[in-house]
Amino acid sequence: MNPVGPSVVILGTGAYAPERILTNEELSRLVDTNDEWIVSRSGIRERHIAAPDEATSDLAAKAGLAALADAHLTPADIDLLIIATCTPDAPLPSTATLAQHKLGLGACACLDLAAACSGFLYSLEVADAMLRSGRYRRALVIGAEKLTSLTDYQDRSTCILFGDGAGAVVLGVDPRPGIGIIGTKLYADGSSSDLIKVTSGGSRSPSTAETVARREHFIQMRGKEVFKLAVTAMQDAAVELLEKNGVAPDQVKLLISHQANQRIIDAIAQRMKLPSERVFMNLERYGNTSAASIPIALDEARRAGRIVAGDYVLLVAFGAGLTWASALIRWV
Ligand code: UT7
Repeated sequence: MNPVGPSVVILGTGAYAPERILTNEELSRLVDTNDEWIVSRSGIRERHIAAPDEATSDLAAKAGLAALADAHLTPADIDLLIIATCTPDAPLPSTATLAQHKLGLGACACLDLAAACSGFLYSLEVADAMLRSGRYRRALVIGAEKLTSLTDYQDRSTCILFGDGAGAVVLGVDPRPGIGIIGTKLYADGSSSDLIKVTSGGSRSPSTAETVARREHFIQMRGKEVFKLAVTAMQDAAVELLEKNGVAPDQVKLLISHQANQRIIDAIAQRMKLPSERVFMNLERYGNTSAASIPIALDEARRAGRIVAGDYVLLVAFGAGLTWASALIRWV
């Protein structure tokens, strides 16, 4: 915890999910699967999918505008934009600059951050440090993904999981100590990078007709191995952060985990002895939206009244890289 202040606090939240909903029933007509298997193995019932002409920056801008409105701020108040994404509109330019234009922001600092499903928590730590440095006043941090652009609808082990969406927070500096972002911790282990990957389309294996024919531009995941590592890593990251900040698990009002699999979240909650009313879940309606999942959940939880001033909110994420992270927030 930063004992003397100032603090970096969340001034507003917002989210956007595309209109079109893809149900388990529809997926069962595309691949050999069924609603019962998907719900029992993942908890997912439906997911939002972007329109063909909707890209990640479009989703990001809509979530960003909602967060600005919630914070009662205007685009002119923002001097830092970070977009966490693994599905940028294109390799160049950054999705942040494209969203900056759509949001009507001034000539502020704009950057994309790539840490897959942990990207939003990585971005929170980066924005927190940049605001604490005194060189920025207010940051817009957005997790945005059009994951369906990387989804192989011939692979039943992955296509049932992913959805599109965006979530955003506006961060500002508050002179009071010990509120807002109390602590963050980031981790990575590149030795297991093979577990979740997109093989082609980058500098290692640029796009060719052959790479497309081999379906190498889609996400491949070794789900069972990822599952086991995700439970342990997120639980350890949560416990370490709570201990470091002198907060007991039963003081946590709400655990918001990356929304990848209901069984993963249940296992973490059980190990931390958190009752279900202190654990947020919305993956049944969104699927796994990677970097967007935590800010979408945070926005929903707050608007549903499940977080109020003074509450401790614990965020944990895990994803490709491998990367994982935790953040502890004292809501204001
Ligand atoms: O966001 C980044 C982090 N990602 C995660 O945290 C994801 C972690 N992993 C998971 O959520 C789970 O591993 C999955 C939901 C992806 C898969 O669940 P699982 O219980 O690990 O299943 P499995 O991959 O071990 O597959 C079990 C069986 C296999 O059949 P056999 O070999 O036992 O005959 C699969 O072929 O289920 C089969 N299967 C399916 N059956 C019906 C795989 N996908 C499907 C499907 N429908 N969609």
